[in-house]
Amino acid sequence: MTYTFPKDFYWGSAASAEQTEGNQNGKKEQTIWDYWYELEPNRFYDEVGPGKTSDFYNRYQEDIKNMKAFGHNSFRMSISWARLINKDGSINDEAVAFYNQVIDCLIDHDIEPFANLFHFDMPMYEQEKGGFESRDVIEDYLAFAKTAFSLFADRVKTWFTFNEPIVPVEGGYLYDFHYPNVVDARRAFQVAYHTIVAHKKVVKHYKATYDGQIGIVLNLTPSYPRSQHKADLEASHICDLFFNRSFLDPVVKGAFPQDLIKLLDEHNHLPDTHAEDAELIKGNPIDLLGVNYYQPRRVKAKAHQPNPNGPFLPDWFFDNYEMPGRKMNVYRGWEIYEKGVYDIMINLRDNYDNIPSFISENGMGVQNEERFLKDGRIEDDYRIDFIAGHLKWLHKAIDEGCDVRGYHLWTFMDNWSWSNAYKNRYGFFSVDLATGERTAKKSAYWFNDLATTNELNS
Ligand code: BG6
Repeated sequence: MTYTFPKDFYWGSAASAEQTEGNQNGKKEQTIWDYWYELEPNRFYDEVGPGKTSDFYNRYQEDIKNMKAFGHNSFRMSISWARLINKDGSINDEAVAFYNQVIDCLIDHDIEPFANLFHFDMPMYEQEKGGFESRDVIEDYLAFAKTAFSLFADRVKTWFTFNEPIVPVEGGYLYDFHYPNVVDARRAFQVAYHTIVAHKKVVKHYKATYDGQIGIVLNLTPSYPRSQHKADLEASHICDLFFNRSFLDPVVKGAFPQDLIKLLDEHNHLPDTHAEDAELIKGNPIDLLGVNYYQPRRVKAKAHQPNPNGPFLPDWFFDNYEMPGRKMNVYRGWEIYEKGVYDIMINLRDNYDNIPSFISENGMGVQNEERFLKDGRIEDDYRIDFIAGHLKWLHKAIDEGCDVRGYHLWTFMDNWSWSNAYKNRYGFFSVDLATGERTAKKSAYWFNDLATTNELNS
């Protein structure tokens, strides 16, 4: 069967600054990742930190050439705040030159640059001020965004304020997998709230000043209840409020879900707000939503009542549910549920005004991928099946009227992934970490056919 995608569909991949550039390359301030790695290298897989990346900083020309050769018409990068803005607030000219060269190189290769302003990489000098717990940092982030726009928005016409903004909240303030390793829901909700205010301020400024499009990238993990029993449905509803709607509703609809406000209020966990925020949050909708989708969440009613004296956490209200027979990516330990992508899009069509969106990340992480090496190339048929499976459901969503504009894989070449370092490989290209040599996997050739014909044959 042949599935034809809309004209001008975005085909490409996504990456982020901290994960690809190499923190030792060029002048750059420390991020929380550089700092945390120095502090606790044992918290990182194989003790590998952000100094050992795929070296995009020095090899971007080769990588962009490969993107072009393998079907890309768009690519999402991120601009590192800690690279662009020095600790004293001045602009780092070396960083300006680097990002100018990357952007120009993409455009020369007919690849549309998508630029994201924040992908988990808080500068340490901002974290010392409290990170997004502090309102002052919102203003610093706005200043950084303004600088990035003034330097690059003449050529970059698609911008994102944040990638998966809920992840630093979960990792840094609830579940201890990002610096500053705090476990405190009150502080977590404050960070989340300020992140939304920061997002809105940047969107407001961009729309008043520039004519491109601006959005945000959210990891939407549909929440499926174990059964249709009331308690399971309620558990799933609360999970959805915390992990999807907490960001989706304010950025698209301009309002937090009433049920979420009520719940936090009941538990005395509402963040501090300023009166003028209400107007800001109500307005300033996005133009384009990036949807990162890897796996669904399956939940059930809580088996045991949480200890009321223990720390308040979202999972006071639900337990995770391991559905028997679910399809797994056994190489990463995540569920594969291709229909999730369709459910997300139908939800956006029906409940979020059919906001223009695209899949900004989807992908299959694989441990020890060398085991699939044959004659010098990784034969990643599982990744081809994974992408094709999701694309079929995406196509169905488009057929049913969802405004979906593209598909980006996570990621172009295997890269360093936070505390998981190089544990899970996701790329179209493998990278020899000793020599830096890049080799296209089988999926890269397959993707090239797909993207250049705009047709999926499966
Ligand atoms: C995505 C992030 O959610 O997951 C990426 O945006 C990250 O930055 C990717 O690298 C893969 O994560 P992991 O833990 O499987 O390596």
